[in-house]
Parts: sequence; structure tokens; C-alpha cells
Amino acid sequence: MINQHVFELGDDMPMPVANDDVLSFLASRRSAIAHTLTAPGPNPETLTELLRLAARAPDHRRVVPFRFVVVEGDAQTRLGQACLKAALELDADLSDAQRQLELNRFSRAPTVVIVVYAPVLEHKTPQWEQSLCCGAVCQNLLLAANAAGFGAQWITETVAYEPKLRDAFTLAEHESIAGFIHIGTAAQQPKERPRPEIEALTHRL
Ligand SMILES: Cc1cc2nc3c(=O)[nH]c(=O)nc-3n(C[C@H](O)[C@H](O)[C@H](O)COP(=O)(O)O)c2cc1C
Repeated sequence: MINQHVFELGDDMPMPVANDDVLSFLASRRSAIAHTLTAPGPNPETLTELLRLAARAPDHRRVVPFRFVVVEGDAQTRLGQACLKAALELDADLSDAQRQLELNRFSRAPTVVIVVYAPVLEHKTPQWEQSLCCGAVCQNLLLAANAAGFGAQWITETVAYEPKLRDAFTLAEHESIAGFIHIGTAAQQPKERPRPEIEALTHRL
């Protein structure tokens, strides 16, 4: 029997303590497709709190190899225009539908948070570990958004890797995109999707 108990940071915990609400929350976690996310998104105070929770990711030697770029309102339109400009430089013959897709790329949800991987170079903590920390920040942000009642999706698409868009994303030379986290109100709960078979993935020594 696992104890059910509410605890504070710093409390003594002599026995495993279960939080059934959190366990069932994790068991039903799903992403919401970005273009299905509608208003309202998080207000500024709530968004700051979500980012604070996201930043509580495991971080070996407290490197803090990440930062956030919030894209809302007019900035969503401007980033869409930058995406279209870059896409037209690669292919001047884009169809109207493709042009619209580029213009709308950052306007699908009320809020987009760009999680930037910002490694500290020449650090004792390997960059591999720093990138894992940044991935955990993205996942924390999804979970925090879901826990606050919002739907969210972590996407990158090809634009995350487009050199022509690095300035628009404010990337320094050593930085890259970990994810565009789209946050908004989900109209309906997504259906379940197949999940990995844990026994097939797990080997016990
Ligand atoms: C780094 C990363 C990048 C992703 N990029 C995309 C993407 O560009 N487009 C997309 O449809 N899903 C992308 N996904 C997958 C979605 O975030 C999500 O996992 C998927 O929609 C399945 O939903 P689930 O999270 O409920 O399993 C990405 C996931 C990760 C971890």
C-alpha cells in the first residue's frame, strides 16, 4: 500500500508517497494539435508561472542551457511574414495555399514559446547533457500548460532548422531551437494514440 500524502519541499518522507492525481494526469497526457488551439491562452502572469515551472528541469551543475522567446500578437504575424519570405527565397513558385501556410505558421495558437537551446560551450557538463536538460524544459512546459488547463503541442517543423530564419528567431551562433511550444485552449480531449510496449523496451539486469 503506497501512502497518499501531501508534502512540502524539505519534509521528511520515510515511505514512498503517491500522488494519484499526478499519476492519472501523466497517464492521460496528450498533445493537442497546434491548429486546434484557440483563445484564451495563458495571460502574462500565468505564462510567467508556466515558464518558472518549465525551468525546474533537472540541470547538471546548474548550467541553465536554455532561454525562452515568447511569440504573441503582432510578433506572430511578423514571424509568419519572415517564414514566407524565407520560403519564397527557396521556391518563388509557392502556391497560394503554401503561402498562407507560411504566413500562419506562428498564428495557430494564442501563445507560442520558442524554447532556445543555449548551451554553455567549453563547460564540464557535456553538451549532450545540456541538450537533455533543455528537452526536459520543453516537456515540463507541456505538462505545466496541461496542468493549468491548457492544451499544448511541441513542434519544430522544418523552419526550426532554416538558416534564413535564425535572425528572426533571435538565435546566437551557438544556439538552436529545441521547440516551438504552442499553448491555448483545446476544444476537445485528443484521442489516445498507440504507446510503446514497456516490457519490450525494458531489460532487467
Ligand atoms: C523535438 C520534437 C519535435 C516535434 N516536432 C513536431 C512537428 O514538427 N510536427 C508534429 O506534428 N509533431 C511534432 N512532434 C510531436 C508532437 O509534439 C507530439 O508528440 C505528437 O503530436 C504526439 O502526441 P503526444 O505527445 O500526445 O504523444 C515533435 C516532438 C518533439 C519531441
